[in-house]
Amino acid sequence: MSPVPQLAAGVIDANLMRRAMGRFLTGVAVVTALAADGSPHGMTLNSLTSVCLDRPILLICISLEARTTQAIDETGTFAVSILTPRQEPIARRFALPGEDHFAGLPLVYCNHEVPVVPQAIAHLGCSVERCVTAGDHAVVFGTPRTVGDSDRAPLGFLGGRFGDYVDRGHEPIQWFF
Ligand SMILES: Cc1cc2nc3c(=O)[nH]c(=O)nc-3n(C[C@H](O)[C@H](O)[C@H](O)COP(=O)(O)O)c2cc1C
Repeated sequence: MSPVPQLAAGVIDANLMRRAMGRFLTGVAVVTALAADGSPHGMTLNSLTSVCLDRPILLICISLEARTTQAIDETGTFAVSILTPRQEPIARRFALPGEDHFAGLPLVYCNHEVPVVPQAIAHLGCSVERCVTAGDHAVVFGTPRTVGDSDRAPLGFLGGRFGDYVDRGHEPIQWFF
């Protein structure tokens, strides 16, 4: 094994970018929205970050081509459901490009304006604060309006694979972001 990471400089192509960023362990969420015509849309997402606590703001990065992105653009509202390991099939379902991700699923609202994934660890119903285009993605900043969570283990994602998070059992570190 090389003692230092392999270095590439200059033009960084999609594979190098994917490989390096794939080393960053994330959770897995589904972002959902209703289009202007009332149809539900949703997609699996791991680009979820808390931006600010004092005035709560989060961000998601979503493909400009995804139908959920268009729905969010139409209505200015979305919800994020953070998934458990048992919900890996939901993560896979909502990642199938072009499929009707809600086909056969009941719409569950749980006090949010848009349908959410039931039994998720956390739900955040958001209104769009602002949206910035970056390459072929939209960076959407959202202000949470409805929030709920429960103390359960999350589904993890690393290097293109789903996995489990292992708690090392130490005291929580209060510096959060
Ligand atoms: C674990 C995981 C994380 C993902 N994260 C994102 C993401 O952050 N942003 C994004 O645009 N697509 C992401 N995707 C891909 C979308 O879920 C997928 O392209 C989806 O089908 C898009 O919806 P569409 O069918 O309307 O195009 C992710 C897929 C997986 C499996």
